[in-house]
Amino acid sequence: MSDPITILIVDDIQDTRENIKKLLAFEEQEFKVIDAVGTGREAVRVALEHRPDIIIMDINMPDMDGIQATSEITKAVPAGVIMMSVQTDQDYLRKAMQAGARQFLGKPVDPDELYGTIRSVYQSLESTRQQLVNAVNVGPTSTKPVSTDPDVRAGHVIVVYSPQGGVGKTTIATNLASGLMKRGIKVLLVDADLQFGDIAVFLKLQSQSTLLDLVDKIEDLDTEFFDSIVATHDSGLKVLLGPQRPEYAEEVEAQPSAVARIIEKIAMSYDFIVVDTSSRLDETLLALTDIATKVLLVATPTLASIKNARFVLDLFDRMNYLPDKTVFVLNRVEDERQRGRVTIPSEIIEKHLKRPVEAKIPVNEAVILSAINKGVPAIVAQRDRSKPPVRDLVELSDMLYRKLMSTQETAEQPEAQDSKAEGRRKSGIGLRLGKA
Ligand SMILES: Nc1ncnc2c1ncn2[C@@H]1O[C@H](COP(=O)(O)OP(=O)(O)OP(=O)(O)O)[C@@H](O)[C@H]1O
Ligand SMILES: [Mg+2]
Repeated sequence: MSDPITILIVDDIQDTRENIKKLLAFEEQEFKVIDAVGTGREAVRVALEHRPDIIIMDINMPDMDGIQATSEITKAVPAGVIMMSVQTDQDYLRKAMQAGARQFLGKPVDPDELYGTIRSVYQSLESTRQQLVNAVNVGPTSTKPVSTDPDVRAGHVIVVYSPQGGVGKTTIATNLASGLMKRGIKVLLVDADLQFGDIAVFLKLQSQSTLLDLVDKIEDLDTEFFDSIVATHDSGLKVLLGPQRPEYAEEVEAQPSAVARIIEKIAMSYDFIVVDTSSRLDETLLALTDIATKVLLVATPTLASIKNARFVLDLFDRMNYLPDKTVFVLNRVEDERQRGRVTIPSEIIEKHLKRPVEAKIPVNEAVILSAINKGVPAIVAQRDRSKPPVRDLVELSDMLYRKLMSTQETAEQPEAQDSKAEGRRKSGIGLRLGKA
């Protein structure tokens, strides 16, 4: 039996503290309350001293409020803070997340929701811890060795995200997945934009089977069943489509880590899993970015887009993601000479975000739209790969391929062979839950 999850309860009302304690006592083998305190200041002191796994934090308290306490705690220790409040509006949610909270529960709390939230936050925290361990053990620039077993693959997860709608996430995700598919490399494209996913439209795919068919089978998901759900595009690309109707999204999101867990389960059957997302910043998204090898943060060179990108970069910092986990991509970049007053030069964006722009995809309505009309990625539709924006989309996939698979050659050497399994164990997300 593994150690219980350690928990600190913070609420200025003693009855609430006692109630939560009682609820957690029903699951005493799994949860252990280490302390229950009534002020933000005490919460900071106890959290730094005892480093609980999870902190259940009230927002409104005398002296220091829950948001400020969360901010101080998450700057110092990797605790999973779950905010709890009667106010559940978006503004609070945003402030809480910016302060480093991982989840939000309304009051009064439902016992099953409380247990489920603690488990899911603890699990996603474990993924982050594992990444930090990997980084220390194998160095931030290390890449996964390629296995000689054709059934066990690298399992790199690339999540394409932007907090803004319409910036080109789906365009980039489909082209990236297609661009990575070379020389026996297996790629899966996942539509995790659960409500209004566009991949089926972009690739003219129709399938009765979607992610929705997998959610209640996560625990005993096998490759055979998974393969029966996945659609195959004419180009050979494998695609896991999202729910067929917007209202079905809720069923998938009922467990915020469902999509991430499905991906973890099947990761070792693919070299790359490219995940398209919606612009929503919620626990479903964070569960995906937690397991991701790389997060492609997409923005356009406009003020609103850069401001939102900055918010996400700050959040990732607070979640202790290593800086090189995020690859910042600018889409719809205009030619120097045609730059309008509304678009910002990339040098200024780099200075402002203190991050390099790792890829710039030029704007070209004709090429992108004609590809969508044909139902193929632009890099497949366009034979001449030397012209923008196809050239730049190909460069982006080649850059990621090199970053993630560059030990392919050295893995063939005998010394490298010995440490292969160990290296994969340390660096692979797939092996955490995947095949042994
Ligand atoms: N580099 C580009 N040049 C010209 N048009 C582009 C480019 N990238 C994307 N587009 C167009 O912009 C529109 C939005 O792109 P896309 O659907 O990929 O964005 P998204 O971020 O996935 O949007 P959503 O938030 O709705 O999912 C599409 O019509 C697409 O054709
Ligand atoms: Mg999209």
